[in-house]
Amino acid sequence: MNEVLKVIEQRSSIRKYKEETPPEEIINAIIKAGLQGPTANNKQEVHISVLKRGNKALGKLAAEVSALSGREGPFHYNAPVVFMLSADKDLFFGSVDAGIACQNMVLAAESLGLGSVILGMPWRVMGGEMKDYFNEKFCFPENYEFKIALAVGYKDTEKAPHDFDEKTHVSRPE
Ligand SMILES: Cc1cc2nc3c(=O)[nH]c(=O)nc-3n(C[C@H](O)[C@H](O)[C@H](O)COP(=O)(O)O)c2cc1C
Repeated sequence: MNEVLKVIEQRSSIRKYKEETPPEEIINAIIKAGLQGPTANNKQEVHISVLKRGNKALGKLAAEVSALSGREGPFHYNAPVVFMLSADKDLFFGSVDAGIACQNMVLAAESLGLGSVILGMPWRVMGGEMKDYFNEKFCFPENYEFKIALAVGYKDTEKAPHDFDEKTHVSRPE
């Protein structure tokens, strides 16, 4: 099996991270993988905000998400790096483009020996009445909205990849 398929096969969402922050070259490689993803009409509209552990606005967002959802721990599992992906809210394929960029980043992280988990949970707050506040704190470009977040860091847990039943998910019409 080639390296890309191996990385896809072994990946699984990681929700416990070591303290250590990945070096800048690793963070930059993950960002680059995101920006190398395809976008509809080659709009290249996806924006990535890089938040390190200790970022005040990230802490405030985590508190707001917990208050709204009732969840105990922070939504980002205290990962050392959280990427917030945003895109132009008027672009029809903005969410798809951000999702593709995000998955490129997931696979880049895995290939570099890190773990990650995609985070939709912030939408509860980022899509609500505090959105302007956080959009500004996270330096989203004008007219952009939150699409998806990604926590990344060194794994402090093992998790087997999920099972799936191909029969229920694949059709092959003649
Ligand atoms: C769009 C999207 C949003 C997600 N949001 C969250 C989230 O907010 N918190 C979380 O712990 N996991 C989140 N996940 C991770 C899923 O729970 C996870 O991918 C799924 O349980 C399958 O597990 P696996 O990734 O280990 O295969 C999200 C995944 C996707 C694709």
